[in-house]
Amino acid sequence: VARVEVSLPHHQYSILIEPGLLERLGETLRVLAPAKKCAVITDTRVNAEYGARVRQSLEAAEYQVLVADFQGGEAHKSLVSVGALYDRLLDERLERSSPVIALGGGVVGDTAGFVAATYLRGVPFIQCPTSLLAMVDASVGGKVGVNVSQGKNLIGAFYQPEAVLIDTETLRTLPKRELLCGLAECVKHGVLGDAVLFSWIEDHIDEILGLDSETLVELVARNVRLKAEIVVSDEKEQGRRALLNLGHTFGHAIEKTSHYEVQHGEAVSLGIVAATQVARELGRVTAVEQVRIEKLLTRIGLPVNAQLVSGDPLLDAMKLDKKVKDGSIRLVLPTAIGAAEVVDDVDESRIRAALKKISL
Ligand SMILES: NC(=O)c1ccc[n+]([C@@H]2O[C@H](COP(=O)([O-])OP(=O)(O)OC[C@H]3O[C@@H](n4cnc5c(N)ncnc54)[C@H](O)[C@@H]3O)[C@@H](O)[C@H]2O)c1
Ligand SMILES: [Zn+2]
Repeated sequence: VARVEVSLPHHQYSILIEPGLLERLGETLRVLAPAKKCAVITDTRVNAEYGARVRQSLEAAEYQVLVADFQGGEAHKSLVSVGALYDRLLDERLERSSPVIALGGGVVGDTAGFVAATYLRGVPFIQCPTSLLAMVDASVGGKVGVNVSQGKNLIGAFYQPEAVLIDTETLRTLPKRELLCGLAECVKHGVLGDAVLFSWIEDHIDEILGLDSETLVELVARNVRLKAEIVVSDEKEQGRRALLNLGHTFGHAIEKTSHYEVQHGEAVSLGIVAATQVARELGRVTAVEQVRIEKLLTRIGLPVNAQLVSGDPLLDAMKLDKKVKDGSIRLVLPTAIGAAEVVDDVDESRIRAALKKISL
């Protein structure tokens, strides 16, 4: 069991990490968001796995429960889903005090969070992330929103939850590939800001991949602490929060040019390797550090190279990324294991060389 406090100037909340927490969701929520009704927003897959259990716990705590699910997947993180969810909430007469609970991965968290931020101009929002990526990344930080045809995450808000309630036992039903994708963000956290976390992952890979219960709690707690600390220092991403984009400018371009055959976490893994290569060429990290990073990703089972489209399409996609400023490519580069910096104006030739390194 672990608890991380997030203290923003205007809002304070707790992140609870506890195996089996979903069974006690009702009693936990009674204290955090007392109301007559509540809505659980989830996707069809997570609903089939956990919906009944969550409903039962909430009903035992005397909530009138609406479980509203939508088709999962990035394509459904959309205004269409949001519109359908508004209808469900309005039809059931959910009130200003009724909490909206996001039960699922990052797609559910982002979509439900946007609904919570805008339904009746904002209702209490509770995150119950069930994917590793959502536990360590998406559910912390208050960014909510949806995709539109023009691009990902272009419509949204900053909306902080009343609490993040993490039941690490849900990771047992998460597909392995999704687990590894979440681990890519954990390695990212270690590289950009927490050398102790990085070594801890190195020392506990077997327990993590074996889903040892206590290890999972500690994995999530260590990552949540790091992310929460960065978010508290820079809620609206005017400075330090940008470091969380390590590997992501490369990563987004790889995802996109692979037509999403390469999943986000896999692309982030490749992106970390590429960014580290650029940093190595600029003399910002040592060869020893570079090898450690690549070795850890490999041991986890994440890719360090892949068959990518060559050259220009990738570079062009990188230039379209929203982190690019005035056409020059800005990258987050490690300066050691546990530290990173934003670097403007990285030379195109260095980026090409890094792309070559990760191409099979
Ligand atoms: N808001 C933020 O700060 C932030 C940060 C990072 C990522 N994101 C967003 O998160 C999304 C990706 O999240 P994700 O990787 O969780 O994807 P996801 O929500 O699509 O979940 C991945 C798959 O796993 C399934 N799943 C989730 N939990 C499960 C469980 N316990 N058992 C069985 N199946 C389970 C889902 O149904 C889905 O099929 C993206 O849309 C991304 O933009 C947001
Ligand atoms: Zn990411």
